[in-house]
Amino acid sequence: MIKNPSADIARIKRMIKDKKSVYIRTFGCQMNVADSLVMKSILSDRGFEFTGNLEDAALIIFNSCSIRDHAENRMFSNLGLAMKKNPSAGFILAGCTAKRHGSKLFKRFPRLGAVSAPSEIFSIGEIAEKVIGGGMGIEALAGGVYGFVPRVGDISEYVVIQTGCDNYCSYCVVPFLREGEKYRSAGDILREAECLAASGTKEIVFLGQNVNSYRDENEGDDFPALLRRASEIEGILRIRFLTSHPKDLSPKLIEEFKRNPKLAHHLHLPVQSGSDSVLKRMNRKYTSGDYLKILERLRESVPDIALTADIIAGFPGETDKDFSKTLGLVRKADFDGVFVFKYSPREGTESYKMNDDVKEPAKKERLTAGLALAKELALKKRKAYIGKKVEALFENDDVGHSSQNYLVFKKGAKAGEFGEVVIKGVSGFRLMAE
Ligand code: 5AD
Ligand code: SF4
Repeated sequence: MIKNPSADIARIKRMIKDKKSVYIRTFGCQMNVADSLVMKSILSDRGFEFTGNLEDAALIIFNSCSIRDHAENRMFSNLGLAMKKNPSAGFILAGCTAKRHGSKLFKRFPRLGAVSAPSEIFSIGEIAEKVIGGGMGIEALAGGVYGFVPRVGDISEYVVIQTGCDNYCSYCVVPFLREGEKYRSAGDILREAECLAASGTKEIVFLGQNVNSYRDENEGDDFPALLRRASEIEGILRIRFLTSHPKDLSPKLIEEFKRNPKLAHHLHLPVQSGSDSVLKRMNRKYTSGDYLKILERLRESVPDIALTADIIAGFPGETDKDFSKTLGLVRKADFDGVFVFKYSPREGTESYKMNDDVKEPAKKERLTAGLALAKELALKKRKAYIGKKVEALFENDDVGHSSQNYLVFKKGAKAGEFGEVVIKGVSGFRLMAE
């Protein structure tokens, strides 16, 4: 009888008892959410089971985000805490932070078994087997090929069509961590969407850092062509996509919005700033005027399209006047939603070399002003729907989303229901339907 089992024996006992139970926690963007779903499918194929309680897990995977300092620090403190709560588990750090800090992390977290880059999600099965078997110091940072995993879908599902980014916006660490743009073949993407539809999925959300630059290198499909082909899949009622870069938003895509009834009437089009000099230093390759023209064309073609954006507050050299231009653009654009982020310098990027001269109180003040305006517009936009009909897809009982991506609440609606509902009121940011 072992009175004080070592961590390894405790882990093996747990493996036998819990049939290789895994706890996965995801930080960051939709791409990470999609990557975690892929990892789950691969692991479940190998007989792993999932638990929502990290104390019960034999293996703990954190899928991490490095976009801002704050995101990274939050993840690190959670990882340290998880290691304290469940010291006998095997630990894998997957995602952008693993790629960014690599093997240096083994020193900081001696219990860490493996670091695995975003491009290595398809190796997660082998990595997990090694770590759960006691393997330590495993590095999977090189990069692999995006594959195909059959999975059973929910009502709405992500399908990755493109990975990486070639844009090198001067503040952004993504091109360094997720590498250059790579495109999955249209055949692979459509096969995945067909499998999901066969398992009950009704909405697909095409994902990529820059979906508008999508092209199938063999068959020649561009992004609008891919959307067209996807909309022909039986059972798929609605298609969304993100994220788009304004410089690649083609007239052909706007045309596709107009002619394809399955395309949801929502576009997330990050603008980042309303000041042309800031946009130039951000390396965004458009002016505020170019951006507003695109919105005008979109609204001409699809009058009820909802438009959302990201903005950054406190980029190096941004003056109060620059930021008021951003607020001015947000008002002119009349966005349905805006995500506002405080600038965070990231080592290795172009803007890291610039002087981070906007002081913290000014950054905070701009953030607060941006958030207040975003809230004002979002509420105004939603209230304008009272008394009108929207097309809603219910992903869960009672709760769904309109074509414009507003949250819709309808008591008694069943998961999977799709059709027009009448909006009777607004509660918070939700549309209340009957
Ligand atoms: N600091 C603050 N915000 C950033 N974003 C990307 N990099 C940074 C950074 N260094 C924001 C951009 C992007 C969103 C996903 O995150 O607005 O669109
Ligand atoms: Fe980052 Fe710009 Fe690429 Fe978006 S388009 S991922 S902000 S470099």
